[in-house]
Amino acid sequence: MNCRAVIFDLDGVLTDTAIYHFYAWKALADELGIAFTEHDNEQLKGVDRLGSLRWILHQGGLTLSAAEETRLMQQKNAHYLALIDHITADNLYPGVQPLFAQLNHSGIKIGLASASKNAAFVVERLGIAAQFDYIADANNVVNSKPDPEVFLLAAKGLGVPPEHCIGVEDALAGIEAINRAGMKAIGIGDAKVLSGALKVYPDVAAVTLTDLLNL
Ligand code: BG6
Ligand code: MG
Repeated sequence: MNCRAVIFDLDGVLTDTAIYHFYAWKALADELGIAFTEHDNEQLKGVDRLGSLRWILHQGGLTLSAAEETRLMQQKNAHYLALIDHITADNLYPGVQPLFAQLNHSGIKIGLASASKNAAFVVERLGIAAQFDYIADANNVVNSKPDPEVFLLAAKGLGVPPEHCIGVEDALAGIEAINRAGMKAIGIGDAKVLSGALKVYPDVAAVTLTDLLNL
């Protein structure tokens, strides 16, 4: 494969925000009296805000009005933003900057495909916003992961056909989105969970440019 772009997910791939999404959803679920474990949360990684809320409500056999859903999403997001208020460039996972530098050096474009509406804020705080050739997030798409839309938008913005792109994801929904976009999928996390990925690494620091070029 002639790799011309690597498109990264944000939460759980470039930084540790995945755990804060979990804490904020867990607090809300507790308040609603709905059981929600870290194992359940695997299903929600990469899933957008409304989809995640509805998944939790469904677990508790609840259906709420649109106004009530909006209120709960605002509550969860306010909690999440408070939890990530402290983040700085120190929260960037080790290995991200060296990998970005290698990609730059090789003329390979760098994209972001995030299901989060807070993506711009987070990459700004991490100090990496200027390093992306294109950023696609939940504010620019209609269909969320596992739909391929956000990855396809990123590829279009980068000007690279999907078959020359590699996607990097920590979520089941994200791996499915990459595969459906016609890109090659790299997983970050547990190989047993991310079975649809071509290769799975424990963290982004373990990913090498040589591996990507040989995919
Ligand atoms: C994804 C996370 O990146 O963004 C999900 O993996 C999260 O856990 C989703 O629910 C939506 O994020 P936000 O910031 O728009 O609520
Ligand atoms: Mg993620």
